[in-house]
Amino acid sequence: MANPSLLILAGDGIGPEVMAEVKKIIAWMGARRGVTFEVTEDLVGGSAYDKHGVPLHDDTMAKAQEVDAVLLGAVGGPKYDTLDFSVKPERGLLRLRKEMDLFSNLRPAQCFDALADFSSLKKEVVSGLDIMIVRELTSGVYFGEPRGIFTEGNERVGINTQRYTESEIARVARSAFELARKRANKVCSMEKANVMESGILWREVVQEVHDKEYPDVALSHMYADNGAMQLVRWPKQFDVIVTDNLFGDILSDCAAMLTGSLGMLPSASLGAPMANGRPKALYEPVHGSAPDIAGQGKANPIACILSFAMALRYSFDLGEDAARVERAVEQVLADGHRTADLMGPDGGTPISTSQMGDAIIAALDAIL
Ligand code: IPM
Ligand code: MG
Repeated sequence: MANPSLLILAGDGIGPEVMAEVKKIIAWMGARRGVTFEVTEDLVGGSAYDKHGVPLHDDTMAKAQEVDAVLLGAVGGPKYDTLDFSVKPERGLLRLRKEMDLFSNLRPAQCFDALADFSSLKKEVVSGLDIMIVRELTSGVYFGEPRGIFTEGNERVGINTQRYTESEIARVARSAFELARKRANKVCSMEKANVMESGILWREVVQEVHDKEYPDVALSHMYADNGAMQLVRWPKQFDVIVTDNLFGDILSDCAAMLTGSLGMLPSASLGAPMANGRPKALYEPVHGSAPDIAGQGKANPIACILSFAMALRYSFDLGEDAARVERAVEQVLADGHRTADLMGPDGGTPISTSQMGDAIIAALDAIL
């Protein structure tokens, strides 16, 4: 069988720096685990705009459709803030999500013991936290029509449309229920059925899918604003949360911060199975391009490395290797290795992006 293929789109800002550390893990997988990936690299976001005048070239889009998995770093930066909306770096990422039809975005929020003190919440509220947000990623207000800035009479009006079909809701609900079965078997669905018709439909369809196909999973419903409050009040009440594109964007940032640092959190965006049975997939850290620290070797590569671990698990059926990478990360944190984002108020000397990558490789060697 052909080697598994990866397309690396490191992107902008700290993207290339954190991706360099993922490449070390990829090389380690080849040398120590006998799993060789066919890796190609290309541009996305501002770096693609600089070269091609668009944030994602058609050839790159075509490549993304062919590979087994895409690994993305981050997109965006102040340099591109004044660009026309249609060619902003973010449009490149949104095009990938939409055209690959990556409807199920998994955003785990796990609190590492060694970092429980970092959270802005009390240690007992977050220690041991392990929740999974499943965010619908290809529809809703991000893509609904009509959209735009129009003129009505003598003033402008900005319009976006929240739109969900039954099948779009049902497929992401299934993905949440499937995941829950492998975890604590609990799903909480969040919407605003009290003010939005799309929320009423969301609630009904999630309930129907549950009753027909997943009656064994415990299902609850919550208004998304209450959900935000509950996430901060007592996050351990949740196992899997399933929600729409915009609420998922907001709630996942909130959940991320419970764990102490945005620099720790990976994500997987999954679509329908391809001919080889693997889901269409893109893996990326939840954090952004962090232009303020780009190029300084300060970035934390852990979120990007854990995103690769998710690729091992969800695209390549290498759950044991994924667990090894996760254990190696836990080990280096327990040993006190810290990048700048993980320095407490009492200071200490942070290690660099590449030193963190090296420490994780050393821990992987030790685990093997
Ligand atoms: C995210 C980001 C993106 C989003 C941006 C960069 C388009 O915030 O992945 O959460 O809004 O989806
Ligand atoms: Mg976001």
